[in-house]
Amino acid sequence: MTLVRTQNLMSNELAKRVFLSRPPEPPHEYLLNDPTNSIFIGITKIFGAPFSWTFANLTNPHLAVVGITGAGKSFFVKTFLIRASYVWNTNAIIIDWAGEYRAWVKQSGGTVISLAKGDYLNIMDLSGMKPLDRAKQIVNSLEILTDISQYPEQKRLTTEALEQAYVNLGFNLASVPDPKKEAPTLKNVISLLEEKLQDGTYEYPAELENAIYRLRQFAREGEDYFARKSTLDLGKLVSSGLVDLDISGLPDESFRALAALFILQSLKEKMRMEGWSSSKGLRAIVVLDEAWKVASDERSDAVMIVREGRKYQFGLIVASQNPTDINEAIFSNVGTTVILRIKFEKFMNYLQGSLNYSNFIRKEISRFGVGQAAIDMSFQTSVQFPEIFVIDKVVGEIPLDVYTLSVGDIMNQDELENPEMQKEYYFEKIDLRNKLIESNIGIEVIESIFKRLDDKNRQLDIRGFIQVLNEFKVEKQNVIILLRSIGLQDMVITRAFTYIAT
Ligand SMILES: Nc1ncnc2c1ncn2[C@@H]1O[C@H](COP(=O)(O)OP(=O)(O)OP(=O)(O)O)[C@@H](O)[C@H]1O
Ligand SMILES: [Mg+2]
Repeated sequence: MTLVRTQNLMSNELAKRVFLSRPPEPPHEYLLNDPTNSIFIGITKIFGAPFSWTFANLTNPHLAVVGITGAGKSFFVKTFLIRASYVWNTNAIIIDWAGEYRAWVKQSGGTVISLAKGDYLNIMDLSGMKPLDRAKQIVNSLEILTDISQYPEQKRLTTEALEQAYVNLGFNLASVPDPKKEAPTLKNVISLLEEKLQDGTYEYPAELENAIYRLRQFAREGEDYFARKSTLDLGKLVSSGLVDLDISGLPDESFRALAALFILQSLKEKMRMEGWSSSKGLRAIVVLDEAWKVASDERSDAVMIVREGRKYQFGLIVASQNPTDINEAIFSNVGTTVILRIKFEKFMNYLQGSLNYSNFIRKEISRFGVGQAAIDMSFQTSVQFPEIFVIDKVVGEIPLDVYTLSVGDIMNQDELENPEMQKEYYFEKIDLRNKLIESNIGIEVIESIFKRLDDKNRQLDIRGFIQVLNEFKVEKQNVIILLRSIGLQDMVITRAFTYIAT
């Protein structure tokens, strides 16, 4: 008995056999799309094909963007939004957690709305919704953000008071409201609960007190950002071009999350009310960047938008440093995942596990520098090629002033070879200026520092950079604040100082 048998084969038969059953990139017809109806992203690494994105053959138009800090998530998002606006006239609403899009939106001619810095949102505003539905949504947000779901009686009291506040102002709970009619605010709701408490007839005063206390945290004088007449019309947001909703000025995460949830609810309603449109491309994109609480909870409307967005040509982009913060219902359903530089093994494992790509791709990802990306797409029909591929670099709208800071010169050989150690940092002028301001450096000194950086072709190594700061008498403590805010580790900072001293 022989284990191996030889076989005679004709060469034409041989040619039919697929040796490379998994070509490393999707075929060109999936990558090259009509430039007037798709968004250019970059050049593929292996075959050098210009990849432009369209959702025509994808399961949906939503994107998840993941990568460590500085990997280029926001850069990708900005590039994407600008091109979508050129190609499809797409409107965009950025729910800006950290205020990091503000400067760019201003530069691009968009609108910036800063909550807590002069702008208010009344979360009881209806923008065309029935009061009954809005009351439910507010309770839903409270369920995500507070412990109300553990206290059914308090939930009941709160819902009832919300509804009563509408009724008292003459609204019919189950009808579409008159748009000119002004909605009540949380302060009216609190007053109703307080009256009930004072009345003294209600059996469980402690329940009432707790319900009041919970609402009051969002309505305190000076922190009543959601309990006053709105200064903006949410209904118009989806058709206002590029809009940055800067919520970074709100006092804490629960305020920011409440704002984001409310905005998503309103956008979802608007999307449903406006119905289907036959224009090409996307009508509006909502961006959630680092909004983990909102992206991670399955009760959030981000999930609803992912489910229903396609039929309304409404796209969602969720960006996060931590892929496990993005709810499964979102992460496993987005049509496109953009993976930028990733550092932690546990995130690598998670991504590889959910997207099911090869070790070859994993290795590529582990070596990414800033702006390099793997793109995973889910097509509507099953395909015979891997759905993930690598692009050389996200080709962005070239930022006018990019400054490069390199730290490679103070690293040892092992560190230089370690893909997890970042060797270069890039900044747009506006970002770097903000960082300098935040590190308590005076405006005049900042101007001089920029002059010096410009003389050096906007490229500096870390030691040269510290020397420039020293020259302008920036205190060591502020230099450290600055270097930390740039993302340098303490070990690297200490070493840079040691090298300068010797
Ligand atoms: N593809 C790219 N081409 C050129 N520059 C890039 C590219 N991607 C990112 N950069 C630059 O790198 C810097 C960091 O990028 P970005 O702010 O997008 O990172 P991020 O992933 O959003 O980080 P964070 O999580 O801290 O918000 C920026 O100054 C940006 O201009
Ligand atoms: Mg960012």
